[in-house]
Amino acid sequence: MAQAATKIGVVGLGTMGANLVLNIASHGFGTTGFDPVPDKVADLAKAVGGIGGSYVSVGSLSEMVQAIEAPRIVLMMVPAGPIVDQQIEALTPLLSKGDIIVDAGNTDFNDTIRRTKALEGSGLLYCGIGVSGGELGARYGASIMAGGPPEAYAILEPILSAIAARHEGEPCVAYLGTDGAGNFVKTIHNGIEYADMQMIAEIYGIMRDGLNLDNAAMSKIFSRWNEGGLQSYLIEITGVVLAEKDPETGKDLVDLIVDSAGQKGTGRWAVIEAQKLGAGATTLEAAVSARSISSRLQERAQAAEVYAGLTATQPEFAGDDAGIAELEAALETAKIIAYAQGFAVMQTASKDYGWELPLGTIARIWRAGCIIRSRFLDDIAAGYDKGSVANLLLAPDFVERVSKGEGALRRTVSRATLAGLPVPALSAALAYFDDYRRARGTANLTQGQRDLFGAHTFQRTDREGTFHHKWPAV
Ligand code: 6PG
Repeated sequence: MAQAATKIGVVGLGTMGANLVLNIASHGFGTTGFDPVPDKVADLAKAVGGIGGSYVSVGSLSEMVQAIEAPRIVLMMVPAGPIVDQQIEALTPLLSKGDIIVDAGNTDFNDTIRRTKALEGSGLLYCGIGVSGGELGARYGASIMAGGPPEAYAILEPILSAIAARHEGEPCVAYLGTDGAGNFVKTIHNGIEYADMQMIAEIYGIMRDGLNLDNAAMSKIFSRWNEGGLQSYLIEITGVVLAEKDPETGKDLVDLIVDSAGQKGTGRWAVIEAQKLGAGATTLEAAVSARSISSRLQERAQAAEVYAGLTATQPEFAGDDAGIAELEAALETAKIIAYAQGFAVMQTASKDYGWELPLGTIARIWRAGCIIRSRFLDDIAAGYDKGSVANLLLAPDFVERVSKGEGALRRTVSRATLAGLPVPALSAALAYFDDYRRARGTANLTQGQRDLFGAHTFQRTDREGTFHHKWPAV
């Protein structure tokens, strides 16, 4: 039986859970930990002791519940999916009115909404919070996107604030809305993460296959870009990955890695939700699809053989300073468009789900701790501070930046396309931009077709109302 009353219980002591315990305990909050694998509990107890924190390890959920002071906070850091439901089912009869269950995993926000509804009337407060930053973030400061009942957040806030990353002293945590709001925002974060990574990979592809640069040269370029407008964690680690040697062979490690990217699903969720909301996030979609295509290694090898005879135009990229600066500008511009898409999805969801997502605050809490942390998020926060816009591409600062950079993006996509170098995310960003800024598009033709074959009706440009035309029989 546990001895001391602690502030919070953590269920699931895998890498993320254990690091969260260390983080919470290091800030003076007594923590109780439970994991079905007892070894992990023992190791963790030693580690927390080592940093002078207060920690109780228990062998069951009921012991955990007794070891936490009321109102009890039980934070689950377990794999998303049925295990979360199992833990809730086991915890519910043990907890009392006013106690809080927190799911801190990468959970589908639809599940959080469902679980919140299922617990209605139980007196328990259910929260889904998105935690970004991987192992190091969990240990030393994560970006935390909180959702759930506001009264639960008021109780959780001191702990979440303490364990959050800091940007110039400001904790990267915020309450974003009821039920699934936190998990939704984390999902969009991951969709943007995919887009960011894919666009960087495409620029790498241009440098490698269009300019024949070696990894050391590319690493230097990315490290230099990390000093400028592209400054971000992902650009920084790109420089590091490109410079790394394989300890066994001495070769560049990046060249030995199979080009088939994994995915756990959150990027895919982001684009599925974007589609459901009718807020096409084409750059995010291209990034998710690129990962899927990358995993079809055998088919790609076969296609490479079948189409080996095709001769693409010689790449027209320039490797001098101006040429590299053009790639930098192209990436910066496409990045603005990708983020504009991600934020537009959140803006639409905010209305549909009644969350009132604070977009500027979201940009602010992504400035440190999370995977997409960057200088650029400061600009987005500042953009929203100046007033609400339907899309970041309409915010005056971004209008100026995109107007300046679109030529570089257009030339980069064109050169890559002519040379047969795939740039699915960069070209999706450009196409979205061109589509978005065209006052009269081509959907009039689509509407005509729909009305012809299905009497789906259309609106006219010259008068109000809904019309159906008697088209010639075809
Ligand atoms: C984070 C990350 C993290 C994500 C991994 C793996 O914010 O810390 O988004 O939550 O799960 O990056 O994602 P994939 O396996 O789907 O690439």
